[in-house]
Amino acid sequence: AAPSAVIVAIDGPSGTGKSSTSKAVAAKLGLRYLDTGAQYRAITWWMITNGIDTDDADAVALAAGKPAIVSGTDPAAPTITVDGVDASGPIRTREVTSKVSAVSAVPEVRALITDLQRGIAAEAEGGIVVEGRDIGTTVLPDADLKVFLTASPEARAARRSGELRGKDAADVAATKEALIKRDAADSGRKTSPLAKAGDAVEVDTTELTLEQVIECVVTLVEEKRAGR
Ligand code: DC
Repeated sequence: AAPSAVIVAIDGPSGTGKSSTSKAVAAKLGLRYLDTGAQYRAITWWMITNGIDTDDADAVALAAGKPAIVSGTDPAAPTITVDGVDASGPIRTREVTSKVSAVSAVPEVRALITDLQRGIAAEAEGGIVVEGRDIGTTVLPDADLKVFLTASPEARAARRSGELRGKDAADVAATKEALIKRDAADSGRKTSPLAKAGDAVEVDTTELTLEQVIECVVTLVEEKRAGR
């Protein structure tokens, strides 16, 4: 990226509005956008379709370099392909969601995907918003702005259920349980776990609308650009 390019890292657990916020902030400020969760989901999808046991860390590590994962970084229409095939639909299935934590905990997978992410950020003209779990701590420790989004488990489950178009209480309860399990796995793994960077600005989104969160992050970026 050019010296004037602004690099924004947005981390946090699922259901905090990370993706919606990151995309909108990037679009408003004319920045590129990278969904790193989609990359981990894409490699997980490839493992599943190629018959790799996702609980076998050695098998996952051996195969990690095989698929070519390419991300399109237009915030208005982000894309993800695996070996040239559009993966944007299949990476959102329940099966991929339930297996992505195990795959993304494998150090070889993280090393490969982290390299991809750094390359994309370095080439992003004008700058980029990168969202994930370890962007501020590990992938882009020199980001100009680091934001850590949080929300109560209830709010996060409700948002995720809404996305899944789930309507009944049992669905919300099941979503909440799956979400808490995934966050615990993502936070507890050895290699670059979900964590707030020491210099990240924490934004609790529980009581905020999406528009308010977007506004808040846009203001933080503008303050940074203005030299505070
Ligand atoms: O943001 P998401 O729910 O699409 O992310 C899917 C999974 O990918 C998440 O459970 C943990 C993993 N992930 C990660 O380990 N590091 C990142 N930077 C982004 C996602």
